[in-house]
Amino acid sequence: MIREVVQVGDEVLRRKCEPVKEFGTSLSALLDDMKETLFHEDGAGLAAPQIGVPLRAVVVNVEEGYFEFVNPVFVWQKGEQVGPEGCLSVRGKMGTVRRPNKVKIVFQDRKGDRYSLVAHGFFARAICHELDHLDGVLYIDKAQDVREAEKD
Ligand code: CO
Repeated sequence: MIREVVQVGDEVLRRKCEPVKEFGTSLSALLDDMKETLFHEDGAGLAAPQIGVPLRAVVVNVEEGYFEFVNPVFVWQKGEQVGPEGCLSVRGKMGTVRRPNKVKIVFQDRKGDRYSLVAHGFFARAICHELDHLDGVLYIDKAQDVREAEKD
């Protein structure tokens, strides 16, 4: 089901989200909704609090593919990149954000199985942006500037 994306100003975006503890049908339904909403919005990533659910789950859709990360945690972050970023919860804006260029995370999938993954470039940026959401942090907190997004 396509869900409404919560906009900046809503307190759910500022919460520290709770770990996912149950890997059952309600988590699958949540991730299905997040995926459907992300594809509908044509975004690069979406975190559960962005649809009003304060749990540690994110979905990412980038060149490397579509990914679901449950309870993701950084193992390390390396290097640096500076580039433009936007957010489905901050409509019509973009900003320039400094991020690590390469990251390694550990996470669980929707069944609770554990994996690790190394990402670089835009994929790493998307992961950093989405993991920030789980701690109530938005890119506008970190951006060097926030400006009107160009219309396409
Ligand atoms: Co965002």
